[in-house]
Amino acid sequence: MLRELLDRFPRLDLLGAPTPLEPLPRLSEQLGRELWVKRDDLTPLALGGNKLRKLEYLAADALAQGADTLITAGAIQSNHVRQTAAVAAKLGLRCVALLENPIGTEAANYLGNGNRLLLDLFGAEVHDVPHLNDADAQLAALAERLKAAGRRPYLVPIGGSNALGALGYVRAGLELAEQIARSGQTFAALVLASGSAGTHAGLAVALAHCLPQLPVIGITVSRTVAEQAPKVQGLAERIAELLGIALPASFRVELWDRYFAPRYGEPNAGTLAAIRRLARSEGLLLDPVYTGKAMAGLLDGLQQQRFAEPGPLLFLHTGGAPALFAYPPQVAIE
Ligand SMILES: Cc1ncc(COP(=O)(O)O)c(C=O)c1O
Repeated sequence: MLRELLDRFPRLDLLGAPTPLEPLPRLSEQLGRELWVKRDDLTPLALGGNKLRKLEYLAADALAQGADTLITAGAIQSNHVRQTAAVAAKLGLRCVALLENPIGTEAANYLGNGNRLLLDLFGAEVHDVPHLNDADAQLAALAERLKAAGRRPYLVPIGGSNALGALGYVRAGLELAEQIARSGQTFAALVLASGSAGTHAGLAVALAHCLPQLPVIGITVSRTVAEQAPKVQGLAERIAELLGIALPASFRVELWDRYFAPRYGEPNAGTLAAIRRLARSEGLLLDPVYTGKAMAGLLDGLQQQRFAEPGPLLFLHTGGAPALFAYPPQVAIE
């Protein structure tokens, strides 16, 4: 039923095929606990990542509205802005982005390498701003300026995380539930990074429908539980409203917030250890801002016995590896 409701919304097929669900055998053996990964880092456009799923809906809406420019905002090293710029290029649209420097660094790699380098490659027009403290209003003001200049801008919110964009992760949840059924596994929990919350909220809505026993645990990358929980809950409510359904009774927002210190965009020792561990045990690239923190949470949760159920764990890899090139080399060296 959820699929029929989703199919009422126009969507550009940018993914083509489901992303893989695969085991991590060497790390599982080291941990004494089976670990699987859903590879949304392998979405097909411009080095991959979770935003392409949201952009399937948002870009379809932009085209339906006759837009000629996608506008959005994020950190200088935003994966979201990189994927939005790539989608704009692929569709023959312009992209204008507002960028902030959330860690106040002047390091050349942060300012010019990684995702930021790719923005220039995609031909995006970039405006540096001191802070994105009121991003919606800042984007609305940018839209007005562009309209006054004769352009037709479409506003993609930070992280693509409005209800329409989050439908991409409702759809991902259905895809994942089918893959889980085929895998024959009963997972003890799904762990993912929770940032602008569209990924978390969309998946949690879908999985509450079709796999209500599976806990969905968001590891915060920038906020405490008290700050992040209302964001996830509010967005889930808006997704349900857009779809015309009630939130399932099994819907829960579960968040762990011990892993994001010192702040958004700055890795800690646990983040770096998780990145190295996955690289060295599985050849898998995590990132210093999102997935490194989320995997640090999973590994610590295992050690602290925070998972309520036994059985295999599932990690959603949301991408982000281009940011590795924006951080100092100590990411790679112990
Ligand atoms: C690599 C990566 N993982 C996770 C996230 C978080 O997803 P969301 O913003 O939907 O919470 C992002 C968002 O920018 C990201 O780039």
